[in-house]
Amino acid sequence: EMLEKGGFEHFMLKEIYEQPRSVRDCMRGRIYPIEGKVQLGGIKDYADKLKNVERIVVIACGTSWHAGLVGEYLIEEYARIPVEVEYASEFRYRNPIISEKDIVIAISQSGETADTMAAIELAKERGATIFGICNVVGSSIPRITDAGVYTHAGPEIGVASTKAFTAQVTVLTLMALYMAQQRGTVKQSDLVSMLTELDEIPTLIEQALKSDEKIAEIAEKFKDSSNCLFLGRGSGFPVALEGALKLKEISYIHAEGYPAAEMKHGPIALIDEDMPVVFIATKNSSYEKVISNIQEVKARKGKVIAIVTEGDKTVKEMVDYIIEIPACNEAYLPLLATIPLQLLSYHIAVLRGCNVDQPRNLAKSVTVE
Ligand code: G6P
Repeated sequence: EMLEKGGFEHFMLKEIYEQPRSVRDCMRGRIYPIEGKVQLGGIKDYADKLKNVERIVVIACGTSWHAGLVGEYLIEEYARIPVEVEYASEFRYRNPIISEKDIVIAISQSGETADTMAAIELAKERGATIFGICNVVGSSIPRITDAGVYTHAGPEIGVASTKAFTAQVTVLTLMALYMAQQRGTVKQSDLVSMLTELDEIPTLIEQALKSDEKIAEIAEKFKDSSNCLFLGRGSGFPVALEGALKLKEISYIHAEGYPAAEMKHGPIALIDEDMPVVFIATKNSSYEKVISNIQEVKARKGKVIAIVTEGDKTVKEMVDYIIEIPACNEAYLPLLATIPLQLLSYHIAVLRGCNVDQPRNLAKSVTVE
């Protein structure tokens, strides 16, 4: 087993460290930065449908649903197609409005999740076109979808999803840019620069992993917390949700992810000197707004850990701990900001003596509803 773990103490850590490679594998043969072109063989027969489609519905569960929320930001921003993201378990039981005009994107690491499969069957009955985003080649979901794109992250053993999530987000990024290319919603010169930057993301993930030691020290300070809040805005919001999910899954600390501005409609009541609050506070379009949310937490003596852009001084002065990630195009923020949150959960769980790879009560793939 030590061999399978490639020298790492746990599969989860090995899989976190695999991400520069898995994200690279996911993009291989699909992006052509010099030409400013995305090629997705799996959905190319639907290029015309994508030109005119009026709505996309994403269905998924768990971490895959979080990837779907990132996809919503990306597809709406770059391809200008309205997107709805639904929990498969809710969608399947609520007589959803769906027709042959819609494209449904089902996201599933395992390709076996029962609720996601049932949601696909329902959407199919109503005539929608179904795309799959799956990791396990030859699993059930790719067999019942019309088309799809594999994530090619390789087998994921840790129950808490890490590299499969970033691969799903990578595929959704590729899909958003592919759709933008079909619809002409992003200028060709911008596609060239965006794809050039995307090509660099695996290297930037490698750099983000270098904060590991510092994150382990921060984990030491918060290992005995009983609650934790994760806050972000824009595409930092699903990253916050995923950060909270990772922490609760493997460390059993109660954690909640929230859009930073919604904090004042509830979670702010929980803030005192014992409440760690993790902010996604990178330099992007919501930076200034996030800073005022940080001030609101500090005014109530909360302990703030901020994920910031390398070199940031403003946030550093306001908060208790910072974790730096390299600067990147806002579109790719989720791919980088997720990395330190995975490491933070990992180290906290290890320090608490939890079974990181197989947390209690959780299954890698949920084949019953
Ligand atoms: C389980 C796993 C999660 C996963 C979810 C959806 O809860 O523990 O890691 O996100 O199922 O699984 P899927 O295979 O459909 O992505």
